[in-house]
Amino acid sequence: RSNEHVAVKIMRNTDCFCEVARSEITVLEEIKRLDDDNRLMLDWFEHKGHICIVFELLGLSTFEFLQQNEFLPFSVEQIRHVAFQIIKAVCFLHRNKLTHTDLKPENILFVCSDYDLEYNEDLVRCEERKLRSLDVKVVDFGTATFDHEHHESLVSTRYYRAPEVILDLGWNQSCDVWSLGCVIIEFYLGRTHDSKEHLAMMERVLGPIPPHLLKQTRKKHYVHNECLNWDEQNHDDYIRKYCQPLKLYMQTQKEEERQLFDLLSCMLEYDVCKRITLEEALWHPFFTPLRMQN
Ligand SMILES: *[C@@H]1O[C@H](CO)[C@@H](O)[C@H](O)[C@H]1NC(C)=O
Repeated sequence: RSNEHVAVKIMRNTDCFCEVARSEITVLEEIKRLDDDNRLMLDWFEHKGHICIVFELLGLSTFEFLQQNEFLPFSVEQIRHVAFQIIKAVCFLHRNKLTHTDLKPENILFVCSDYDLEYNEDLVRCEERKLRSLDVKVVDFGTATFDHEHHESLVSTRYYRAPEVILDLGWNQSCDVWSLGCVIIEFYLGRTHDSKEHLAMMERVLGPIPPHLLKQTRKKHYVHNECLNWDEQNHDDYIRKYCQPLKLYMQTQKEEERQLFDLLSCMLEYDVCKRITLEEALWHPFFTPLRMQN
């Protein structure tokens, strides 16, 4: 009626999903109550047993954008802008006794993912997508948990899961800090653990996947010449990158990069008692240029 394009999240009509949907609506209503300008949830309704939540329409997720841009990393400057916004948003949740629990690149959306093509001679395709705006929003509050609520023992998506969650030591807001540390390093490296990498790791351990299985898959992009679409070069590179100490990922010794890695090492601290809080992270020197602008 308003001629406005929106996004509608349609939940499966099973009890389990209804519960997640109701919990998400409760959280979104609370966020709305705390922050009057928040336009994340516009409405919700039930249709044939499905709970449907109406959101403002946003752009691609940071994951989709990286994927479509050949997993080209974001620059340190871009990371500064994106990370500052995400940390501010999640810090708002933390101040209000909420933990998101499922922070990952799929749940961080560009408000608008329009881009310009720029020439980059290092790329096979020669063209790099440069975003016009770096504004992002955090989404998916289906598993967000209030301090007073029951804390599920297993939360987060595996790659972003904090050690205290894996070790079942109990968790609080700090597990979001860990997840964000993982997200930021992923933006810096531009690589993600996708399913193909997962299959390549299986091959490393178990030998090649039989060609007849690869032939049957509908996921044709995993396959090249009847083999997993993966070259040793990349594979070794991946394992080497995956296994080295954090600081060795630094590509230059520039001051801004040193600050970024100092922040990351504070976020990826095993001991929750020593891990930086997001409130503290906002005051980290890495964000000084942005605080001065604001
Ligand atoms: C989370 O738990 C740890 C360990 O009990 C504690 O040191 C920390 O202050 C807690 N963080 C928050 C935000 O409550």
